[in-house]
Amino acid sequence: MNVNEISELVPGVPKGLEIGLRNYWYPIVQSEELGQGKPIGIQCLGENLVVWRDDRGFPAVLSDRCPHRSAKLSLGRVLEGKLQCALHGLRFDSGGQCVLIPWEANDSPSLNEVHARSYPAEELGGYIWAYLGDAAKFPPPPLTDEVPEELNHADEFLWFRMPTEVWQTNWLLAIDGGDGFHAVILHAETQAVTDGSWQGGSPQAATAPLAERRVKIVQTSYGVRGVATDRDGKPIHHGHLLEVKGDRFLFPCISTNVIRPVPGVEPYVSRLWQFPIDDSRCIIQRFAVQRAPTTEARERWAKLFTEVVGPRFKSISREDAMIAESQGDLVTARTNEHLFEPDISMYEVRQRIRDAFLAQLSGNRMAPSKNSLVWPIA
Ligand code: FES
Ligand SMILES: [Fe+2]
Repeated sequence: MNVNEISELVPGVPKGLEIGLRNYWYPIVQSEELGQGKPIGIQCLGENLVVWRDDRGFPAVLSDRCPHRSAKLSLGRVLEGKLQCALHGLRFDSGGQCVLIPWEANDSPSLNEVHARSYPAEELGGYIWAYLGDAAKFPPPPLTDEVPEELNHADEFLWFRMPTEVWQTNWLLAIDGGDGFHAVILHAETQAVTDGSWQGGSPQAATAPLAERRVKIVQTSYGVRGVATDRDGKPIHHGHLLEVKGDRFLFPCISTNVIRPVPGVEPYVSRLWQFPIDDSRCIIQRFAVQRAPTTEARERWAKLFTEVVGPRFKSISREDAMIAESQGDLVTARTNEHLFEPDISMYEVRQRIRDAFLAQLSGNRMAPSKNSLVWPIA
C-alpha cells in the first residue's frame, strides 16, 4: 500500500496505529500469572489471545479462537501438554497444530487441515513475551536482542517488577503522559523529598508545597526536562529525572528514565511498557533496575526498591492513569490540544511511532535502538 493512501484517524495517527505497532516482542503477562494446566485469555493489540504452558512449562500463545467453530480456546484446558478446546475437544500444540480430533483416528489427515494461529512466545525476566505480528513477513529477532540488557543478566542486575496494570485509555495517550516536565506538578506530592541523605525508611516530603512550586524547563541530550524549584527558582528534590544520553523512548513502547529516588543514593533506571489491549485500554508493565552484582548491593537495592521506589511507582501510576483516563478518547484528546514548546520531546516520540508504523507498510521494520537498551545508560 502506498503510504500516501493511508488515511488518518486524527492528524499524525494513521488508521490502525491506535491498536499498536505489530511485529515486536511484548511482555503480555507476568510469569506468576500463568500457572500450569489452566490457560488464560487476554487481549493485546486488539486481538484475543490464549496463553498457556506446555508440559515442559514453556509458554505458548495462540489466537483465542478455535478453528473448528470459534469457541474461545482460553475456556479449555491443558491436557497432556496440549491445549484442548472446551467445546468438542480438538487439541492443539504450542505451534497451533491440531493433534487430536476426538472422533477421528490418531493419524487422520483432517489434523493437517485445522490450525490455530500461533505467535512466538518466551519467558524471560519474570515476563511471558509474545512476538505479536506476522513472523513470515517480519521474522522475529531473538528476544534477547530487543529487551533491556539487564533481563539477560540476572546475576549482575536486580530488577523490581510492579504488578501488571490496565489503564482505561488509548496507549498513545499513555505514552504522551511520559513527557519530562509534568512530574514536578502532577507527582509533586509523591515525588518530592527533603534534601537530606537517605538513611533508610520512607523519604520525608519536601518543604515547598505545590502552591510554592515553579517549573524550570531544561533542554538535555535526553529531551526536555522540567526541574522543580521553589518560588525563587531554587531547585527542590523531586525524585529527579537525570540528564543522560540515550533514547528515552524505544520501540515498540519502552520508556526508560534514570531517576535519583532520594538524595544521597545512586540513580536507578525505570523501565516502562505501555501497549494496547484495544483502542481504549492499555497494559502497563514497569520495573526498577540497578546493577547489583554483590549480595550487599542486592540487599541495599532490594530495600530501596521496596521502601521507596515501589510505593512511589504505585502513586505515580495512579496519578498518570487518572490523567490519561480523564483525557477522553484519542481523537477527542488530540483534536483539542494546544501544544507549547516543552511538548516538543513528546511530539518527537509521536512522530517516531508513526514512522515505525508507516515503515512497516513499506516492508521495513524499525528495531529498537541500542541506546538505553544496553548499559551504561547514564
Ligand atoms: S469449537 Fe473447538 S472443538 Fe469445536
Ligand atoms: Fe507521570
